[in-house]
Amino acid sequence: MNSEFIKAAKKQKTNHVPVWYMRQAGRYQPEYMKIREKYSLFEITHHPEVCVEVTRLPVEQLGVDAAILFADIMTPLPSIGVNVELTSGVGPVIDSPIHTRADIERLGELHPEQDVPYILDAIRLLREQLEVPLIGFAGAPFTLASYMVEGRPSRDYHKTKALMYSDPQGWKILMDKLGDMTIAYLKAQINAGAQAIQVFDSWVGTLNNEAYHTYIAPVMHRIVSEIKSTYDVPIILFGVGASHLITEWNQLPVDVIGLDWRMTFDKARRLGVNKALQGNLEPSLLLAPWEVIEENVKRILDEGMKEPGFIFNLGHGVFPEVKVETLQRLTAFIHEYTAK
Ligand code: CP3
Repeated sequence: MNSEFIKAAKKQKTNHVPVWYMRQAGRYQPEYMKIREKYSLFEITHHPEVCVEVTRLPVEQLGVDAAILFADIMTPLPSIGVNVELTSGVGPVIDSPIHTRADIERLGELHPEQDVPYILDAIRLLREQLEVPLIGFAGAPFTLASYMVEGRPSRDYHKTKALMYSDPQGWKILMDKLGDMTIAYLKAQINAGAQAIQVFDSWVGTLNNEAYHTYIAPVMHRIVSEIKSTYDVPIILFGVGASHLITEWNQLPVDVIGLDWRMTFDKARRLGVNKALQGNLEPSLLLAPWEVIEENVKRILDEGMKEPGFIFNLGHGVFPEVKVETLQRLTAFIHEYTAK
């Protein structure tokens, strides 16, 4: 078993810098596109053997040091009464968005073994087959709420913030319910065999520090503490454009902070961040000539390797225009450059 990823997440010394990529399974892979001709994204996740195949594909193709379960942050929402469709070219679309206190109160509870057995079956199968650790994941309450309230991807999150600021009590009920869902979902994933967890709070960077502290930090604290009090499984927290929240994040009992490309590791350390760090190559660079990629990657590696506790990743997900060969070359380069 290759456990360099787990060691780095626990800030232990590694033989090389471990690497994986957000969205490492997806539309940039011809093999994935072939599977998508037959199955929608949610159909893939409802068929454990197909989900296993898609999850394993980048591990075998790229040689990365961790697998991430193939699912979506929207996966548990239908079970609590939120119907989601993944619309091509748009993203997640919700048929009846949350607007009122009654909408919030109507949300149900997640019972993972009954509601998402296919996810847990996929995890169990993956654990029998994988030789790298398996990362389970969930969306964080703010990011999930942003889709549930806006009804679709948004740039400004006005409706979500309006609810948060004008009905703080209703907002708290919403965060508590999504917090409960996330705790149940993550515990079930860990019980099924997930060896690390990434919590995606992709869009929380739209809030300032004060709003984060008041409206978000309590539920994040509860989720992470609940998991950490029961399981010795590293937890990674990631968001886009959230560098200003890094000191808030450093106070949560997470193990790893995932940075996007707007902040350097040196700067994060200067701000007092003492967790393991993950990231943070600007994904658009993957379309640049190799020499440009290499120069940027070396800078990240040189900074990241100054302390134990460094996992290489992109600053956000791989996108469809990226070539498989680029990620193969990048993975090999990182392993070679950082080998002891
Ligand atoms: O990383 C992996 O390889 C695991 C699979 C994974 C998916 N979504 C599959 C997916 C993971 C970890 C996610 C997380 C996710 N989903 C996030 C958090 C990460 C981030 O990007 O910030 C968010 C915000 C979502 C919601 C979501 N799902 C969006 C915005 C979209 C559309 C984006 C797009 O590129 O079109 C999806 C669809 C989706 N989820 C795809 C994949 C591979 C692409 C669509 C497809 O194959 O049809």
